[in-house]
Amino acid sequence: MKYFIKTFGCQMNKSDSERITSVLESLKYKKTNDLTKAQLVILNTCSVRDSAESRVLSLIRNLKKKNKNVVIGVTGCMIHIRPDKLEKNTNFLFDIRNLSNLPKLLENNLCKQVLNLSQLKTKSYFKINPIHQSNFQAYVPIMTGCNNFCTYCVVPYTRDREKSRASKDIIKEVKNLIKQGYQAITLLGQNVNSYGNDLKNEIKFPDLLSKLAKIEGNFWIWFVTSHPKDMSNDLIDIIAKNNKICNYIHLPIQAGSNKILKAMNRGYTKEKYLELVEKIRKKIKDVSLSTDIIIGFPGETKQDFNDTINIFKLAKFDMVYICRYSPRPKTVAFKFKNNVSILEKKRRDKVLTKLLEKYSLEFNKKLIGKTVDVLVENKSKNNIYIGKTKTYKTVKVASKISASKLIGKIVKIKIKKADNSNLEGRIK
Ligand code: SAH
Ligand code: SF4
Ligand code: F3S
Repeated sequence: MKYFIKTFGCQMNKSDSERITSVLESLKYKKTNDLTKAQLVILNTCSVRDSAESRVLSLIRNLKKKNKNVVIGVTGCMIHIRPDKLEKNTNFLFDIRNLSNLPKLLENNLCKQVLNLSQLKTKSYFKINPIHQSNFQAYVPIMTGCNNFCTYCVVPYTRDREKSRASKDIIKEVKNLIKQGYQAITLLGQNVNSYGNDLKNEIKFPDLLSKLAKIEGNFWIWFVTSHPKDMSNDLIDIIAKNNKICNYIHLPIQAGSNKILKAMNRGYTKEKYLELVEKIRKKIKDVSLSTDIIIGFPGETKQDFNDTINIFKLAKFDMVYICRYSPRPKTVAFKFKNNVSILEKKRRDKVLTKLLEKYSLEFNKKLIGKTVDVLVENKSKNNIYIGKTKTYKTVKVASKISASKLIGKIVKIKIKKADNSNLEGRIK
């Protein structure tokens, strides 16, 4: 049997797909890179916006049209939000936390039951060892779920409440990866900085980072996503002190207006967020900050949007992921009136994108002439290699050195050129 896993959504889903791979390989299924040749297709879905769901549904329609015998199994966030829509044209749905039951489902692919989240009592699916896509950088989930209930977000309904993994399991997994030669580890969680809050007698996120940084070897640690309300002084100090912990923080603000932040249930004001940014910039050398913004949340007036523009001017993010608000079933905001028109969302999107380009160009230009460490990730055509700095910026380098000697290595690069999205340099 040949299988293909199609992953939508965030890094947590990518990481979950690495565990699905491991289960399928243990059953002697063979991976194919050609979707049309697969006899089993697993769709690991996302529900964060309507567009993510539409892509899944259209893929299902196309798959069945092309090959009516293909077996389609669906997992991920969408099965908790749209089970009705997914049942049509698919063979089975399964909760990712029930991954250890996948072999049973494959034997009898008639199961369409979406189990109630709280009924799942199977041992943690994190005990299943993943097969990582890369042999030099790896995702390591440290917790799943979310307790925050931001009014626009489906995640608490799809991933349930926060559940942290035992720190000894995380440390063991990271130690193993470093022993195998991994250069970069990305710790994952919907809200990494509330790690440990749900467990008695467990360490908290700053201590976890500090223990991981003590593991012997020359490697980098990235982590996503941090919530501004849980960004403690201790955490900032640990990042500032440890060379292995990357000076890059993804800190979603979502909106710049206090009225909208309150309606979103984010738990901080713009003033508190800006104080935090100032503290981070003061303590962490050459830190790079990125954020998420939702535009057109219900009730967002032009004045509220101006507040977001002002935050951009004050915080000057290195990178911003801008999303237009998409109403999600089950969430509190779904019932909110006063929606912003699609046309106005587009206009606001353009204004912010322009500002973002201006500031990221400014930041990137400051790096010209500097020498930075770059983890080389892959090679595109014409001997151009592409990699990431510790601050998560993309760097292109031309080199005739063979791919086997460069990919997966951390090299020193002198930056020669910069635009708003990329840096270009030469190997020192
Ligand atoms: N836990 C993270 C974010 C997880 S979802 C945090 O708290 O920041 C990733 C991003 O998707 C969010 O930061 C938000 O910007 C975006 N998003 C979530 N729900 C959305 C919705 N209903 N419409 C548009 N964007 C949304
Ligand atoms: Fe969603 Fe908010 Fe939780 Fe992030 S913190 S996952 S945006 S509910
Ligand atoms: Fe999407 Fe679920 Fe991730 S909704 S963004 S796949 S947590």
